[in-house]
Amino acid sequence: MSEHAPQHETLMRALQDRTGDALRDVGVCVTGGAGFIGGHLCDALIALGARVTIIDDLSNSDTRNIGDLIDRAPERVRFVQGSILDPDALSEAMDGAQRVFHLAALGSVPKSVEQPERTWLVNASGTMRVLRAAQEAGATRVIYSASSSAYGNNPELPKRESMASEPESPYAAAKLAGESLCRSWAKCYGIDTVCLRYFNIFGTRQAADSAYAAVIPAFIKRWVNGEAPTIFGDGGQTRDFTHVSNAVLANLLAATHTGALGGEVVNIGAGVRTSVNELASKIKSRMGIDGLAPEHAPERVGEVRDSVADISRAKQLIGYEPITALDDGLATTVDWYTSALREGIV
Ligand SMILES: NC(=O)c1ccc[n+]([C@@H]2O[C@H](COP(=O)([O-])OP(=O)(O)OC[C@H]3O[C@@H](n4cnc5c(N)ncnc54)[C@H](O)[C@@H]3O)[C@@H](O)[C@H]2O)c1
Repeated sequence: MSEHAPQHETLMRALQDRTGDALRDVGVCVTGGAGFIGGHLCDALIALGARVTIIDDLSNSDTRNIGDLIDRAPERVRFVQGSILDPDALSEAMDGAQRVFHLAALGSVPKSVEQPERTWLVNASGTMRVLRAAQEAGATRVIYSASSSAYGNNPELPKRESMASEPESPYAAAKLAGESLCRSWAKCYGIDTVCLRYFNIFGTRQAADSAYAAVIPAFIKRWVNGEAPTIFGDGGQTRDFTHVSNAVLANLLAATHTGALGGEVVNIGAGVRTSVNELASKIKSRMGIDGLAPEHAPERVGEVRDSVADISRAKQLIGYEPITALDDGLATTVDWYTSALREGIV
C-alpha cells in the first residue's frame, strides 16, 4: 500500500533540498534494502537519481517493496537476492557502488539471546565482509546502521557518544563490534566510514513484531481490533521515538558529506523524550478512539527506563537536524497502519 502521495512528495522535496543533486547518477549499494528502514532509504535514493543495488536475503522482509522500487526506475534499480555472508552475491551487489549503506542485520534482541552465534555471524562478521567487499569494489564510504542499544542501561541522560558503551545483549554486542570494524576500516584501509546510532525508529511498513518501536503498530492493531492495548510497567518509561524520514536524512547527509568522516559514531534521534503513556494517548486521539484505555502489565525485566539522544554531534559533523517531528510522523504512521490493518495488508 503506497503512502499518501502529497505527503510523500513533500518529504522527497525536503530531502532534495538538503542533498541537492549530489546523488544523481551515483552508484550505491544498500544491504538490507528490502527491510523497513532500507526500503524507505531506497525510495529516497531513487527519487534523488541514484543507481541503486539492493542486496537482501529476505529473512525479515519480502519482495513487495522491491517490486514497487524497480517499477519506478527499472534502469536504475537492481536486486540481488542473497546473504551478505555470501561473497559472490556480495561482490555482484557491490559492482559499481561508490557509496554503501549497510543496514542488513538480525534485529531482534530476544532472538539474539536465543541465537548468539548466528547474531554475531550476520551482524559482526557480516559487517566485516561488507566492509571488505566495499573496499574491493572501490567504494569510497560505508554508512553503517548502528544501534543505541550500545548504551545499555546506563542511566545518564541524554545519551552522548562519549559515554562508555554497555551492551547488554548479543545483539547490542554485535552491533557495537560493527562500529569498531567500521572505525578500523577507516583507519587501516583508506575507505571512509561512519556509524549512525539510531534511537527507536518508527514509520510505515515496519514489521509489527519489530524489536524496536513495535509498540506503535502493536497499539494501533489492538485499537483497530476493538481491544485495549497493553503497557508494560507504569508507562512512565521514556524513549526517543524517531520518524524513519530522519534516519533516511541522516544516511543521505552522511553519504553526501564532502570531508572524511573517519569511522565516527553519531546519534540519530529526534532528541525528544516521550513516555509510553503520552505516546499511547497521542495514537488514541489520532485514531478517534473512545474508552479502551491501555491496560498495565508487570514491567519487563531489564527494560531501560529512559532514553533520549543528544544529537549535537550529528548536527556538527553532518549537519543533521530532524525533518519530521513526532506528531507529524505519528499522524502518517497511524493513518497508514489503520488502513493497512483494515484492508488486511499487514
Ligand atoms: N528500527 C530501529 O529502530 C533500529 C534501531 C537501531 C538500529 N537499527 C538498525 O538498522 C538496520 C535496519 O533495521 P530495520 O528496522 O530496517 O530492520 P529490518 O529487519 O526491517 O531490515 C533488515 C533487513 O536485512 C535483511 N537481512 C537480514 N540478514 C541478512 C543477511 N544475512 N543478508 C542480507 N540481508 C539480510 C532482512 O531480510 C531485512 O530486510 C539494522 O542494521 C538494525 O540493526 C534499527
